[in-house]
Amino acid sequence: MRLSLRFVLPLMLALAGIAYAVAPLVDRLTLTWFVHDLDARSLLVTNAIQEPLQEQLAAGKKAKILEFFNRITRDERLFAIGYCVSPTAKALATRSLPAEIHCAELDRWVEPRNHLLPSDKGPLHVTVQPMASEAAPEARLVLVQDMSFVTRRSEETKRYLFYLFMGLAAVVSLITVIVAQLSWRGWIAGMRALLRGEGLLRQPGSAPPSLPGFKPIARDLQRLIRDLESDVHARDESQITWSPESLRGILRGELRGEDVLVVSNREPYIHQRRGDRIEVQRPASGVVTALEPIMRACSGTWIAHGSGSADRDVVDKHDRVAVPPEKPAYRIRRVWLTPEEEAGYYYGFANEGLWPLCHIAHVRPTFRSGDWSHYVAVNRKFAKAVADEAKTKDPIVLVQDYHFALLPSMIREELPEATVITFWHIPWPNPESFAICPWRDEVLAGMLGSSILGFHTQSHCNNFVDTVDRFIEARVDRAAFTVSFGGRLTAVRRYPISIAWPPAAEMLEKPVADCRSNLRQLNDLPPEHKLGIGVDRLDYTKGIVERFRAIERLLELNPQWVGRFTFVQIAAPTRTGIEEYQHHEAQVRAMATRINGRFARRGPPPIVLKVEHHEPREVYEYFRAADLCFVSSLHDGMNLVAKEFIAARDDDRGVLILSQFTGAARELPEALIVNPYDAEQCAAALHLALTMSADEQRDRMRLMRGLVAEYNVFRWAGRMLLDAAAMRRRSRLEKKTGRAET
Ligand code: G6P
Repeated sequence: MRLSLRFVLPLMLALAGIAYAVAPLVDRLTLTWFVHDLDARSLLVTNAIQEPLQEQLAAGKKAKILEFFNRITRDERLFAIGYCVSPTAKALATRSLPAEIHCAELDRWVEPRNHLLPSDKGPLHVTVQPMASEAAPEARLVLVQDMSFVTRRSEETKRYLFYLFMGLAAVVSLITVIVAQLSWRGWIAGMRALLRGEGLLRQPGSAPPSLPGFKPIARDLQRLIRDLESDVHARDESQITWSPESLRGILRGELRGEDVLVVSNREPYIHQRRGDRIEVQRPASGVVTALEPIMRACSGTWIAHGSGSADRDVVDKHDRVAVPPEKPAYRIRRVWLTPEEEAGYYYGFANEGLWPLCHIAHVRPTFRSGDWSHYVAVNRKFAKAVADEAKTKDPIVLVQDYHFALLPSMIREELPEATVITFWHIPWPNPESFAICPWRDEVLAGMLGSSILGFHTQSHCNNFVDTVDRFIEARVDRAAFTVSFGGRLTAVRRYPISIAWPPAAEMLEKPVADCRSNLRQLNDLPPEHKLGIGVDRLDYTKGIVERFRAIERLLELNPQWVGRFTFVQIAAPTRTGIEEYQHHEAQVRAMATRINGRFARRGPPPIVLKVEHHEPREVYEYFRAADLCFVSSLHDGMNLVAKEFIAARDDDRGVLILSQFTGAARELPEALIVNPYDAEQCAAALHLALTMSADEQRDRMRLMRGLVAEYNVFRWAGRMLLDAAAMRRRSRLEKKTGRAET
């Protein structure tokens, strides 16, 4: 209605204006026509009266003539009539003949433009007609006609014109408003259908589209919108220098006030009892580094397994504790597990089943139905914790890793509108390898509860999508890299994880020269002794056995390094409750002893094995002291040790030898890329690293440092959050335009 008024009123005003502008033109035109008419009428009257008038004149009866004239002028239009026998005579005329008309000056009324004579009754029309006879060759008849009717008619014409234009305005407005309303409704319906992907783009099973010819246009339009979005996105991203501040910026701008929850098995702060004291431990984990700025920025909640010996002593009645202890900014919600649950869920299904299944490191996965039951129950427990901790009905939940494959769909059951971003930190194998999991369909269905599912590399994304395509009833879109399952859409995306950049200043405090001399002294090595470093959890996927074999081969092939090169292997004990890990530790220890026994007689040992946890500062000191770092994982999602080594080398020195089976190898081609199963090749790489010139080391290191600086961990988290923000905007728009699905 308001739209109609807004449109109709100006239109009416405009048309009224036009009516007033047009009226004088119409006046002038009709006046010309009336004058013509009156001229013709004068001629008619003259002809009609000529004969009787001549007779009266011949009879010389002036009184009769005047009476005759008066009778004629009874006609309402004929105002006056006069007869001039000659220019010098006095006119024989009715009394109404205007004083301005004299027989002597009749010529002035002959010109057509002089026809009009103004008077107080309105304009008068004067015509002079010759009425010659033998007796009076110069005689003329003057006819004066009343033109006041012209003024009346002009007024009427103006009025009619005005009404006409107003009527026209009303009709035009009405038609326009009706057409506009119909088109608007149609357009809105069209847009809704378009956004729903219906109508023009038919969903399988729906009614046939009414306008099949528009299908490609609609599809192009959708693609164009998507391209524009990603274009804007990409442009925005390229302008971001990724840091904790930019993450906070995204949370303040794109995700203002959103409720953010993180779920991981390992907690970011672990409270341990040491005698009478409670000590706070921070696991040296890349995930904690990446996610903590998000938690701090939005005062979120991190839900994790409370595994520390003093964890229960520090929580409130809701099992929450504020962290970091020195300056609380967010909270941890601890979830307690019974020893049976931990054995089945963590040690069993997660670490004896999924871990070897996904890594394909020649350790057979073990699947037990009892472990599976615990895995399901613990995932359910965490889903309840998420629902408890959510402050809104649509929080953003960041689910971490293979411990929680079922959690995304369980969160959906509790909070259907949540945005669930799941990140799978380990590799995803090919469909054939994954197929051996007895609960593969359940695992896939659980993961597909995610809004976004992230992996480190494109090949892991491809493997996942292939696995889904092979085993479950889902619609896979390989162009958009999405999977539609159970009425929901999951975007499968690559987000390569990284480390914080720049590294904390205290890590780089000690000069490289000091690190080199200190650590050589500490390990009883001569000052110029060549040093290699390896830092890993004592896990069979890390290829520590293969690494030692390569060192042995180096010493066999290049004996000049015996007594001149030592490799320090820091191996943090991990998952020691699992038999395979105990066996692996024994194997690694035995191998180091055997190789040292073989070569240590000629000086310092080739291998120093340190099976213990080292603080990040100590690890950085080793990185800075070393000539090379050897990462020989048999399969690794990313491997952050490689990136930490690069971050530690602000002197642009040191050589990285990197397994081709790590995600990191795809980003760091300047490393010496090796196949850890090929001992000869690895030995050659070790020799090359030990003899590489300082210039070449610098050139390679600079390139790698540039990449890690740019593709840091804040970018990893930020890109996921930006994608989540875009997804939420799109889903809100879809809801507004009528689509029920999120
Ligand atoms: C890998 C996994 C992480 C896990 C870490 C340490 O990096 O991807 O999820 O936290 O190993 O293992 P742990 O079993 O000690 O937590």
